[in-house]
Amino acid sequence: MTTRVLTGITTTGTPHLGNYAGAIRPAIAASRVEGVESFFFLADYHALIKADDPVRVARSRQEIAATWLACGLDPKRVVFYRQSDIPEIPQLSWLLTCVAAKGLLNRAHAYKAAVDRNAGTGEDADAGVTAGLYMYPVLMAADILAFGAHKVPVGRDQIQHIEMARDIGQRFNHLYGDSWRAVTGKAGEPLVLPEVTIDEQVATLPGLDGRKMSKSYDNTIPLFAPPAELKKLVMSIVTDSRAPGEPKDADDSNLFQLYQAFSTPEQAAEMRHAFAEGIGWGDAKQRMFARIEDAVAPMREQYQLLIARPAELEEILLDGARRARDLTVPLLDELRQAVGLGAFTAAQAAAGPARAQAQKLPQFKQYREADGRFLFKLVDGEGSLLLQGDGHASPREAGQLIARLRREGADALHEMEQRAVGLLGERVGTLADGVAGVDAVIEALRVMNATEE
Ligand code: TRP
Repeated sequence: MTTRVLTGITTTGTPHLGNYAGAIRPAIAASRVEGVESFFFLADYHALIKADDPVRVARSRQEIAATWLACGLDPKRVVFYRQSDIPEIPQLSWLLTCVAAKGLLNRAHAYKAAVDRNAGTGEDADAGVTAGLYMYPVLMAADILAFGAHKVPVGRDQIQHIEMARDIGQRFNHLYGDSWRAVTGKAGEPLVLPEVTIDEQVATLPGLDGRKMSKSYDNTIPLFAPPAELKKLVMSIVTDSRAPGEPKDADDSNLFQLYQAFSTPEQAAEMRHAFAEGIGWGDAKQRMFARIEDAVAPMREQYQLLIARPAELEEILLDGARRARDLTVPLLDELRQAVGLGAFTAAQAAAGPARAQAQKLPQFKQYREADGRFLFKLVDGEGSLLLQGDGHASPREAGQLIARLRREGADALHEMEQRAVGLLGERVGTLADGVAGVDAVIEALRVMNATEE
């Protein structure tokens, strides 16, 4: 089985060099590894939690979509989509909301930080906190669990969110696993519990002032700044006062770190040598600009093409959404049934209405009697009753018996007294009126088994 890797991209702000070296570039490299199935999505519902300016939200998500593609993300190879194009994500989010412990969400770092800030200023604990911020981890759990992702590569600040996704998923499995197995006839668990993967050696780049490059420090260099602006920003990087001719240590220089992130090992070694020889800061920055411009220019050109053709970008993302929904639509169908929100003719829906009707196969139907017992019946392709199953205490028991009938029934069913039907001596139900004998039931099971694969 291939490993399913999924990660979300927050669509706020304008991508900068630090995002590129620290997140975009390594993620795209990882998506090219064989044997992984990668899902990348724009977490645009999440963006609403932090931003309420529609123009900025819209612009940012378009810029970020274009950025990832321009940087080499191959939308044929990975599934690249917008969260907001997948209605099953908010649907699952609600199912998870109803099982998530409120106490778990109280402990989320982002929420706690907001509460602490309020305590610091003497405000009401929840002042300025939206329910969206509070529910952030549940929506994120839905992003992940809707796809059965095995691995979720994220930054360290997101580890707690992945742990919460596991907790919430586990609780759902515990509450609804039996029901899901009964309605689907599948083994295993409805939701896959994801694992976090942290890339320890991902570069964090210094910003203009030497602190980590980050939007919150206002010290960033936008990835696709026009050359003149790029040059101006590079020239403004803070350095010390050592004069040209004085030897400089590459290892404690921000400038060198930045240079290294955009150069081959040979180019970096050359620059290191130039530092030792006492290259002046002005010259070093000139070289730095040339190096970054070299690396960025082809991507910037791609980016501008994409931004200029929003319809093309839209088509790429809609295609990704279609492929994503091939997974989420059937899963949510199953989950809705498992929680009791299936069609009133639930067992029929479980078998897949299209399939059942198109091929007119016999099928098992499960339902619940008013007395609380779980029953099943076997009907032929026209929907006429063949076998009325006995009642069971739980959907799981009924489901397990159906699974046994499908596996062993064709060889081991027999008639007992008064039109009762037995499986290896054990009574399972009664033949319907008008059915000649147990052979009709056996024949139906054979037809079902033959069309199984
Ligand atoms: N919260 C993540 C971040 O800020 C973005 C995100 C949203 C995400 N949903 C996700 C990441 C699902 C991984 C999986 O970086």
